[in-house]
Amino acid sequence: MDLKSLIREVPDFPKPGISFKDITTLLKDGAALRYVVDQFDGHFRAARPDVIVGAESRGFILGAPLAYQLGVGFVLVRKPGKLPAAKERITYDLEYGQDALEIHVDAIQPGQKVVIVDDLLATGGTISATAELVKRLGGVIVGFAFIIELDALKGRDRLAGYDVLSLVHYD
Ligand code: PRP
Ligand code: MG
Repeated sequence: MDLKSLIREVPDFPKPGISFKDITTLLKDGAALRYVVDQFDGHFRAARPDVIVGAESRGFILGAPLAYQLGVGFVLVRKPGKLPAAKERITYDLEYGQDALEIHVDAIQPGQKVVIVDDLLATGGTISATAELVKRLGGVIVGFAFIIELDALKGRDRLAGYDVLSLVHYD
């Protein structure tokens, strides 16, 4: 399936010079949404993950149906202040400033095999922080799944040694 034709490129969003990759045009296409989840399933099913982890917010959209299809649970990594119970937090650097992500400390049991899902791999900041949270809880990462990878930003370099699946690449 030609996913790229379903991803809308919006020039100068959110700031001048950035070409935003808008997946809402893909998500509203039922066949395309199913295709994406099926591709993730086909790639990672043999690794027999115990749990799928997705980062707020777009990681939720893809991670939950993948977990459903595999018959495993889904774990939320959320932006700060959203999770109610005991949690682990990581702060990470952005181009300007810092951001943070959190996970419930009881969300993953040590030794559980984890696939981490997001819509897009750019600098890799979000996904590296998510991976660090999973590792702190003792999760064993079996791989990462994205719809889109922005190759020039080299986020993949931060995931060296892991199985990284991206369905669509941009320079
Ligand atoms: C976007 C995207 C990824 C992340 C990729 O999320 O959904 O999660 O940025 O960028 P990175 O590789 O440089 O970290 P965003 O923070 O915009 O939030 P959202 O998913 O809630 O829209
Ligand atoms: Mg995101």
